[in-house]
Amino acid sequence: MSIAAIIPAAGMGTRMGGERPKQFYELGGVPILIRTLRKFHSSPLIDRIVVALREDEITEFSRLLGTEAYGKPVDVVVGGDHRQESVASALEGIDAGAYEWVVVHDAVRPLFDPPLIERVITEAQKTGAAICAVPVLDTLKQIDRQRVTATLPRDRIVLVQTPQAYRTDLLRQAFEKAVAENFFGTDESMLMEHFGIEVGVVLGCERNIKITRPSDLPLAEFYLALESPERAPQP
Ligand code: C5P
Repeated sequence: MSIAAIIPAAGMGTRMGGERPKQFYELGGVPILIRTLRKFHSSPLIDRIVVALREDEITEFSRLLGTEAYGKPVDVVVGGDHRQESVASALEGIDAGAYEWVVVHDAVRPLFDPPLIERVITEAQKTGAAICAVPVLDTLKQIDRQRVTATLPRDRIVLVQTPQAYRTDLLRQAFEKAVAENFFGTDESMLMEHFGIEVGVVLGCERNIKITRPSDLPLAEFYLALESPERAPQP
């Protein structure tokens, strides 16, 4: 069973401000995207990695990649204006006959535990699709402008993370349906649900934050220090 990883990294990072997209910000001296790729590189389950980038970031990415010693192929495709288009363009180059499964993971989540890749793939084998997610701790309200219209049952709601695993042929069909119906989702599991596939859920991890705003960086540095005990903050 061969498995390809798709890393969408073509976002503009407008919520981060700054000159460069957030996936190129450094965490502990290493660009976030490179940290994410190292984790996928370390997973024996992943045979190939496809990264979707903005066209004007490809040269810099190739330079960064040149300094890394990866033992598995890393291909680059040009992403689109929406995350969904970036994933679609990576998926286009993956032959479902050669890679039966794909794992999609946000470039800006470098702090996940690599065994999560295996857990989500194992779960996906039951229905063809699986995500990881964490429980909600806060009270959840539905609002209409400044008025609360409902309190949502938080024990039945989770916050979705990546990695997510999909059977390649099913994901491709889900994308075809989405394109035909002009359906946009914030992740691929929405497309799979729309296509009628049951999506499994495994427990993600608290450290697996999506680095989005400037205030996420100190927390990411803290979590990074916990990954390497010698750098961990002393009590
Ligand atoms: O925008 P969002 O926070 O959902 O981005 C999640 C991931 O999708 C990021 O790694 C980002 O680089 C990527 N993305 C992309 N193409 C876009 C928008 C986002 O590859 N057009």
